[in-house]
Amino acid sequence: MRILSSETSEKVGKEVELAGWVDARRDHGKLIFIDLRDRAGIVQVVFNAKQGDVYKTAENLRPEWVVRIKGKVGERPAGMINEDLETGKIEVSAEELEILAEAETPPFDLSTDGYEVNEEMRMKYRYLDLRRKRLNANLKARHKIIDFTRQFFYKKDFTEIETPYISKSTPEGARDYLIPSRQQPGNFYALPQSPQQYKQLLMIAGLERYFQIARCFRDEDTRGDRQPEFVQIDIEMSFVSQEEILDLIEEYLLSLFKEFYPERRLTLDKGKITRMTYDEAMKNYKTDRPDIRKDTKDDNELAPLFVVDFPMFEGKKDGSWAAAHHPFTMPKIGGVKELKAQFKKDPTKIQAHQYDVVLNGWEIFGGSIRNHNPELLAAVFEVLGHKKVQIEAKFGHILEAFKYGVPPHGGIASGLDRLVAILQNEPNIREVFAFPKTGDGRDLMMDAPSEVDKEQLDELGISLKKKK
Ligand code: AMO
Repeated sequence: MRILSSETSEKVGKEVELAGWVDARRDHGKLIFIDLRDRAGIVQVVFNAKQGDVYKTAENLRPEWVVRIKGKVGERPAGMINEDLETGKIEVSAEELEILAEAETPPFDLSTDGYEVNEEMRMKYRYLDLRRKRLNANLKARHKIIDFTRQFFYKKDFTEIETPYISKSTPEGARDYLIPSRQQPGNFYALPQSPQQYKQLLMIAGLERYFQIARCFRDEDTRGDRQPEFVQIDIEMSFVSQEEILDLIEEYLLSLFKEFYPERRLTLDKGKITRMTYDEAMKNYKTDRPDIRKDTKDDNELAPLFVVDFPMFEGKKDGSWAAAHHPFTMPKIGGVKELKAQFKKDPTKIQAHQYDVVLNGWEIFGGSIRNHNPELLAAVFEVLGHKKVQIEAKFGHILEAFKYGVPPHGGIASGLDRLVAILQNEPNIREVFAFPKTGDGRDLMMDAPSEVDKEQLDELGISLKKKK
């Protein structure tokens, strides 16, 4: 039976079977050495000219060929020990060699960290790019963080619930990805920008503590900290205060850092995550996501920050107003009358029960206590300029649901990709996705987006305008 490279060290004197990729080959006259790579690491295999056929086959081996090897584990001669390698004290003397697949020479070097390679090439051959140690390690770290996150929230009595991806537009401030409906021609689903409305509806459903590792979709220009499709750790709770939500996130983050990144230096305020109001942040740092690291050149530092008391509304370039977070956020205001009067006077003066978590200058969480008063919520939509019929069409389901016994509730969601990127010391989130999109939203490996057949369009009742 095949064992892993990492298990060979305990098998000195024994016959083993290994399988994996040729990471490197070195010829030393009568000896050929290969580094055999599998999911656990690397082990050295040696072929001796005395063995005839096996040695002859080994002469053909090239990097990235896939092989199965049987052989005997032996201690390396003194002086040949490689302290940098987990299996550096042993080597496997090959007795059988089977070539499972040959490989063309990869279009770029896989032995480096890859930052020097043209990114379009890396994306086109992502399955090769992912073979490099750094990216492999990033995916594994991401997996561990997700596993830790699930266990953490399960222990706190959260129920993990999947919400639909084929859904209706949710206002999170970005453009929607639309899906045409075949069964309802002329109508469209939208991919959710977040599960915001569903998680609030789950509070009405009595779940009280919801969480999900949720995919979110936003049609916006891609940047280092933005992907069109990304992942949130999404949380919603009933009968909860802002303080309780921030305490929970503080416990989550500090225990996560301690578990997997104990070597990193934490910048805290008397053992707690530093706090700042939005106004203080804007006044002292001119941004709502200040980087409060003591030394920004220090890769080792982690400086988390809670920013609280955001304004409810923000002015847009065209002179209109929008919710700074989303319209479901609770404004710090007495009621409908006061909201309307205050909005008329100065919208910027209305604060919200809204908070962000910032880590080293990146916004990694955002959330709010929700406005669960249907009249006040309708008034928010109204001051934002929605007509009554629009409010009914877009948000009627929420306003209706709020009539049937809605608990006070609030929540928060993280950018998981951002969190992992910072913890793994990566300069952008593409490095922690298996299959990210390019800056202009393309998947170069799958060649998406791409044209579709005329029949597919006909079925959807769609005709295309001529391309400019
Ligand atoms: P918000 O829009 O602030 O809130 O999103 C929450 C967190 O998601 C991350 N994020 C992104 N990460 C990668 N690529 C993107 N394009 C992207 N957009 C956002 C950020 C951000 O802090 N429903 C609310 C949450 C709530 O109120 O509970 C929401 O989605 O790290």
